[in-house]
Amino acid sequence: MKRVSSSLVPPIALDRSKRYPLYRQLYDWFQRAIASGQLRPGQRVPSTRSLAAELNVSRIPVLNAFEQLHAEGYLQTFVGAGTWVASSIPQETIGPSTGKISGPAQKKGTRRISQGGLAATLRAPQPWLNLSGAFRMHLPALDHFPTDVWSRLVARNARKSTMDTMAYGDSMGYAPFREVIAEYLGAVRAVRCDPAQVMVVAGSQQGLQISARVLLNPGEAVWMEEPGYPGAHQAFRTAKARLIPVPVDNEGLNVENGIHRCRNARAAYITPSHQYPLGTTMSATRRLQLLNWASRTGSWIIEDDYDSEYRFGSRPIASLQGLDSDARVIYIGTFSKVLFPALRLGYMVVPTDLIPAFSTARDAADIFSSTLYQAVLTDFIKEGHFARHIRRMRILYADRRNALAEAIHEEIGGMLEIVSAEAGMHLVGLLPRGMKDTEISQNAARIGISAMPLSICYLNRPLRGGLVLGYGGTDGAQIHDGAHKLKMCL
Ligand SMILES: Cc1ncc(COP(=O)(O)O)c(C=O)c1O
Repeated sequence: MKRVSSSLVPPIALDRSKRYPLYRQLYDWFQRAIASGQLRPGQRVPSTRSLAAELNVSRIPVLNAFEQLHAEGYLQTFVGAGTWVASSIPQETIGPSTGKISGPAQKKGTRRISQGGLAATLRAPQPWLNLSGAFRMHLPALDHFPTDVWSRLVARNARKSTMDTMAYGDSMGYAPFREVIAEYLGAVRAVRCDPAQVMVVAGSQQGLQISARVLLNPGEAVWMEEPGYPGAHQAFRTAKARLIPVPVDNEGLNVENGIHRCRNARAAYITPSHQYPLGTTMSATRRLQLLNWASRTGSWIIEDDYDSEYRFGSRPIASLQGLDSDARVIYIGTFSKVLFPALRLGYMVVPTDLIPAFSTARDAADIFSSTLYQAVLTDFIKEGHFARHIRRMRILYADRRNALAEAIHEEIGGMLEIVSAEAGMHLVGLLPRGMKDTEISQNAARIGISAMPLSICYLNRPLRGGLVLGYGGTDGAQIHDGAHKLKMCL
């Protein structure tokens, strides 16, 4: 390491042992010194010749560094007079970019972010997320995914890439993919739609976000299931909507209660096939009540059909969208649960007159989803792998659900009352009154168990706390071990 103190600039340390080029070290040093105010605007810097001599390096790296600093406007040269730090650099220093906040930036009010609803959605840390241990929510059995078939289809489609598939695509999605989705939804979910109404999205979270922005003006009311999906709370909050909690009972969302609370809400968000998180199915009466309310008031219904492929006792429940005769329902589905979440592919079925608004909103967000993966999934569905995978997973999840119910019964039966477990990839266990679920979840996270507290699904304070336990991505051995560890936390 050679240190040189020039008469004009603070000491420059060059590390010759580094593989990092000398010119880059010099460039970085000058850039940091100027940005942090060590070198002031208008201050003279040594000539390249004298700096090279002082540092005992060849002139080439110094020339290269200065050339770059000139090009980016940090330095200016007056022929015959020398080189200066550009006088246009602002006098107030911008400070080193360490990410840490210090100096004037700390002053209250100087680091404002948009209050466009985001501030209200900033969450406290959730240690039960991102653990790889038992009961992690929203995770399918990734170890049972047919990776070999998938990789083959990815390779085949990548090889077939054309100028067309590599260019910008349609905001509504890749046409052949929208066709297979429409066909699948018609056959399996009784959704009534034309491929033109199908919009491919980057997961249902994006579908919720776009719906909130397209359908609601800031301040307008939306009914939310209470308890409900926290991701939906977030999506509607960032659109500055007013969230109205409407209780859920064993028939699903209580429509009369919603009308009583806020008759003229602009929209209702619901998970009728498998209520998130309680797992109930919305009754036919409530479905018709909801559709009638929407027709009468001109409101929208956002149907989130996130995991209805997995029903154990009976056939999948038909969608609410299929019952709608007034084009009031925006239907949203995802491949995150049936395939894998990192795919970031989902879909919406949009009433025909709203297609331009939804398509424009997607265009404004991120334009469209990866054409390659849409094409791969088109083949995966068309060639029968999708249906086969769902059939296999339905059996696996039923086994895992039974194993978890049994393990809870054996280990913590007296403490955790299972609410419903007829479908899906998670179940809810209610805790005795007065027990704080967030504390239990935090304790569980410390020993690697991912038990989501039920209370985070509520907008108001719940009467009883509980734990939401995912079993989709938790195998038999982990389930038993996890239930045993959970007992210690209770
Ligand atoms: C009810 C519900 N809706 C939507 C989503 C979002 O899914 P994704 O954005 O991965 O498609 C989830 C994720 O777990 C969910 O549980």
